[in-house]
Amino acid sequence: MADTFYTNAGCTLVALNPFKPVPQLYSPELMREYHAAPQPQKLKPHVFTVGEQTYRNVKSLIEPVNQSIVVSGESGAGKTWTSRCLMKFYAVVAASPASWESHKIAERIEQRILNSNPVMEAFGNACTLRNNNSSRFGKFIQLQLNRAQQMTGAAVQTYLLQKTRVACQASSERNFHIFYQICKGASEDERLQWHLPEGAAFSWLPNPERSLEEDCFEVTREAMLHLGIDTPTQNNIFKVLGQGKGRESWERCSCFLQEGGPP
Ligand SMILES: Nc1ncnc2c1ncn2[C@@H]1O[C@H](COP(=O)(O)OP(=O)(O)OP(=O)(O)O)[C@@H](O)[C@H]1O
Ligand SMILES: [Mg+2]
Repeated sequence: MADTFYTNAGCTLVALNPFKPVPQLYSPELMREYHAAPQPQKLKPHVFTVGEQTYRNVKSLIEPVNQSIVVSGESGAGKTWTSRCLMKFYAVVAASPASWESHKIAERIEQRILNSNPVMEAFGNACTLRNNNSSRFGKFIQLQLNRAQQMTGAAVQTYLLQKTRVACQASSERNFHIFYQICKGASEDERLQWHLPEGAAFSWLPNPERSLEEDCFEVTREAMLHLGIDTPTQNNIFKVLGQGKGRESWERCSCFLQEGGPP
């Protein structure tokens, strides 16, 4: 009721999912306020306090020391959201001045790091009973800083992708977002190339009528482009996802599965 979504419990920050947009809580101005504060821990509890404290811990020692933030909670608690917030925070406070000279469109490294989110989520998230955008994998994100505390790179390791979801979904749940994105967002030409007839129903893609904000194909494509996955490579990826998945083959495969035969 008080719109207070963060509180401290010892060295742990407890975050409550507000289940509504609270834009003023994540503004760049607020990020800068926490970043500039002499003692950020004295400000209201916030995910930016954790971000800033770890950022300072890296540099405050004679030798830089790696810092880890563990984001945990039940499905729908807001882990992915919180990780995104932290990445945005570091993209603002640890922005590097250098851009990639060799690249035609000079793309800042921070932007590429943020662009990894829509791609990871399109291919690894799905609508479940508990969360419309549920991560079906775990991830370890490493952000790398240079001695000047600027972001110089990132690495993402993923764990335990729920691959079985491709062929089997609980009722009222969906397959991975990317399948719905290509079905809903492909142009007429692409539909032909990728064997996705207009209006086709696929038995492995249940509940397509649910329209989610995660179904935005353009956002995924744009993010892939920014990550250096060019249009021909993207086409090949989408062709693989769509190929041979016309109504008949999808249905034949799921029949086999139901009968316990080879998929
Ligand atoms: N701080 C927040 N402000 C506004 N909305 C939020 C916030 N945190 C979470 N949400 C909302 O709750 C939804 C679920 O959060 P999120 O996807 O981060 O959960 P999760 O913990 O990653 O769950 P899962 O384990 O299923 O992946 C988000 O899509 C978003 O709509
Ligand atoms: Mg998640």
